[in-house]
Amino acid sequence: LPAFVFQTGKDLALHAAQIISRLIRERSDLGQSTVLGLPTGSTPVGTYRELIRLYDEQGLDFSNVIIFCLDEFYGIAKDNPQSHRLWLAEHFFNHVNVKQENVHCLDSQVVASDIELHCRRYDDLIQGAGGFDLVLLGIGRNGHIGFNEPFSMRKSRTRLCTLDPITRQGCASDFFGESNVPVQALTVGLSPILAARHVLLLALGEHKAAIVTETLEGVISDRVPASYLQEHVDARALLDLPAAGLLT
Ligand code: F6R
Repeated sequence: LPAFVFQTGKDLALHAAQIISRLIRERSDLGQSTVLGLPTGSTPVGTYRELIRLYDEQGLDFSNVIIFCLDEFYGIAKDNPQSHRLWLAEHFFNHVNVKQENVHCLDSQVVASDIELHCRRYDDLIQGAGGFDLVLLGIGRNGHIGFNEPFSMRKSRTRLCTLDPITRQGCASDFFGESNVPVQALTVGLSPILAARHVLLLALGEHKAAIVTETLEGVISDRVPASYLQEHVDARALLDLPAAGLLT
């Protein structure tokens, strides 16, 4: 998994946004849509800001872009500010000309008996769109990608999963206390993510340095789901200096 190290988070965001915009332009020149899998969280904020700037200033056209949000907390209200759909709308897709019908998110309120069907439909929608052209990823301190927590199976599909205590601790301040953090979440599985044609794994900050090193230099193991990206033919890790600080 090749690593690219940037002086600042801003440089990293510029680079990530350029890769994404080039892909969108190339595909749209061929009359093809671009299917993106997108995360929430602090890491991709700069990249989304940069993509919005490219839309505003250079007319980057999102009318042929299809977006799938990678994950969602299960059981929270649709208008909960921590909802990934709202987050992604606010930080990204409300600010560009992506078509509403081309935005797909997992439903935090799907009733228990419909979860399986909901997840199969999500996988079918991704497949039907031709699979992911590019998946943008952050990484959890435990090596999760999306909400594929440690010990997720490489072949896992979109599903309901139980959040790892480390993940719930990390979300505690957003929910005003760890006890308010949902116990479960819906996530796109590792299988559709690993089948993406391009993957960009972003990591910012010293607190990610240890897991970045394990992901890039450690053994490939279900203990660190992100380590499966070592086997991907076109996955890149984009890191700032602190996140790269423990690489050999
Ligand atoms: C969220 C997601 C997660 C985050 C990861 C890092 O949609 O997919 O895998 O990318 O937890 O979160 P931040 O960027 O907040 O450190």
